[in-house]
Amino acid sequence: MNSKAELSGRTIVLAVTGGVAAYKSAELARLLIKEGARVRVVMTEAAAHFIGAATFQAITGEPVWSDLWDARMPNGMAHIDLTRDAQLLLIAPATADCIAKLVQGRADDLLSTLCLARDATCALMVAPAMNRQMWEHPATARNMNTLRGDGAIVVGPAAGEQACGEVGLGRMVEPAELLDAVLAHFTPKTMAGRRVLITAGPTAEAIDPVRVVTNLSSGRMGYALACAAARAGAEVTLISGPTGLAKPFGVERVDVSSALSMHEAVLSRYAACDVFIAVAAVADYRPAAPSERKIKKSADKLSIDMVRNPDILADVAARADAPFCVGFAAESHDLDTYAQGKRAAKKLPLVVGNLVADGLGGEDNAVVLYDAEGRHPLVRAPKPVIARAILEHISRLLKD
Ligand SMILES: Cc1cc2nc3c(=O)[nH]c(=O)nc-3n(C[C@H](O)[C@H](O)[C@H](O)COP(=O)(O)O)c2cc1C
Repeated sequence: MNSKAELSGRTIVLAVTGGVAAYKSAELARLLIKEGARVRVVMTEAAAHFIGAATFQAITGEPVWSDLWDARMPNGMAHIDLTRDAQLLLIAPATADCIAKLVQGRADDLLSTLCLARDATCALMVAPAMNRQMWEHPATARNMNTLRGDGAIVVGPAAGEQACGEVGLGRMVEPAELLDAVLAHFTPKTMAGRRVLITAGPTAEAIDPVRVVTNLSSGRMGYALACAAARAGAEVTLISGPTGLAKPFGVERVDVSSALSMHEAVLSRYAACDVFIAVAAVADYRPAAPSERKIKKSADKLSIDMVRNPDILADVAARADAPFCVGFAAESHDLDTYAQGKRAAKKLPLVVGNLVADGLGGEDNAVVLYDAEGRHPLVRAPKPVIARAILEHISRLLKD
């Protein structure tokens, strides 16, 4: 869920310490570079047992730093200069040993000295990775509390199968999720304190146990909005129809299939939300009587009786305790007329309109925002960029 170059102009020092997850940091470096960041890698001596400096040098196009006494920096002071033009020092993976050193304020190698010499303009983000017993040890728990208290942003660890074969808490958060955490760190918190409910994707209406009526919605627009809202500080619940998309980091996802199940999931949650964004392409009709058995290929023709599904957005928007409701209108023609009509009919403060040919199922979208002030076209862009612009518009309307 990323647009191009969100980190352009940022410098990130990626510190790699001696854990098995070090191999994943190469992918993390690649993702950060892809987002436009300048990445400078620092490795501990132990990290070099797990991954080679050449890998990071090739990925980042920068020399890799590991020796406190390295004289390549013109003033010989890599331990100070490396973070001076950086906005983030990200330690991933962070070993138990590295965390203990940070807490003690040790300065006996390049990374620990760098951490101590870091100034306030360079935030510290730490992604712990270790065996579950090491993570659960009271010493590590104590250290983590102190580290958080010292202002470090801690991401993870995740639970699951570990390199040692044990199962538990201690895995490094996956590179794509760490990238999300980095992007969230740099996103202004315009939606802080807001609870946002979003529906996304298509619905699937059963014909029989193996067949459904569905549509071409990919879910990307709704997921991009959920991701952008979470990064902007909102508490986000995403009610998703069937899509192949990964759950955005920091978002609670509720999986549903049919329009009726999406309706039920929304009704049980909308009252706890400040904003409801109905992005899902909900089927207008469903088979009236889905067959309990697979329909056999015997007749020449098959007719399926369809009945109307509930209009989830209209239902919520009409309620006395309705949150700020945003509708999406995907039309094949006459966008202005239909989108404005939808806004008026459902009494919505905001409708996001797009032509089906412009956005449905694709990576990009071109939309028009319709509110009480009129129409506001947004130029064609990747869906994450469109999502950010829509959220900025919503947060402006919420303030008015
Ligand atoms: C095969 C192997 C795997 C290791 N994996 C981890 C690990 O995942 N997390 C951790 O905290 N320590 C791990 N260690 C121990 C660290 O490498 C050790 O504490 C080292 O001193 C860390 O140095 P550093 O923090 O300077 O990188 C591992 C050690 C070995 C031999």
